[in-house]
Amino acid sequence: MDKKITIAIDGFSSTGKSTLAKQLAKKLNYIYVDTGAMYRAVTLYALQNGFVTKGHVNEHALIANLPNVTLKFFFNTNLAHSEVYLNGVNVEGHIRTMEISNLVSKIATIHDVRLKLVEQQRFMGKDKGVVMDGRDIGTVVFPDAELKLFMTSGANVRAQRRYDELLAQGHDVTYNEVLKNIEERDDIDTHREDSPLRKADDAIEIDNSDLTIEEQFDKILQLVKKVL
Ligand code: DC
Repeated sequence: MDKKITIAIDGFSSTGKSTLAKQLAKKLNYIYVDTGAMYRAVTLYALQNGFVTKGHVNEHALIANLPNVTLKFFFNTNLAHSEVYLNGVNVEGHIRTMEISNLVSKIATIHDVRLKLVEQQRFMGKDKGVVMDGRDIGTVVFPDAELKLFMTSGANVRAQRRYDELLAQGHDVTYNEVLKNIEERDDIDTHREDSPLRKADDAIEIDNSDLTIEEQFDKILQLVKKVL
């Protein structure tokens, strides 16, 4: 298994992209890049610096300050996956809140934000041996990726999974809040002008509504083996 490839995983919110990506990266000894975490970290930056007032984003101020935003991933050996750092601070524990989830899709429509993050994502994946998940990986970031997956599952299934996950992490949320957020993000992510979420023509669609995590992993490992 010496050949190194790029695996692009795109799809709707909370379809289990990161779970799958982490499993694959571990199995193949690849780098895993959670691009959603990068958009979430920029959203946190905008909030921390007062560029958001009552849900309105001061795009001009955020864009002017983008050169001051440094994002890095560092591997956490205890958790066996990478965590995102914003200007040297580990923000992994702060970027999954509902406040960030409610704002991140808006921030991700900003062209200059996308330009900066896509450039960094291409750099991180330049040597292949990478599993990257997001919304535009197979269409924009790595259109030549050897394996492209497009994940779907019913909104209710996704909301339930996300709700359970957030509760387990100690967040104070309701199921309806989570469902509404997922539907709103899907809508914004699919309809935005710059790099909307869509299945690349050569992506393989995986509907995991009725698959366990293990069944899904086995199925995708077969696909990976065909490419390697
Ligand atoms: O994967 P996630 O749910 O953590 O992503 C959060 C948001 O970031 C998502 O609603 C849209 C945006 N995003 C994006 O526009 N492009 C990506 N490649 C990844 C995420």
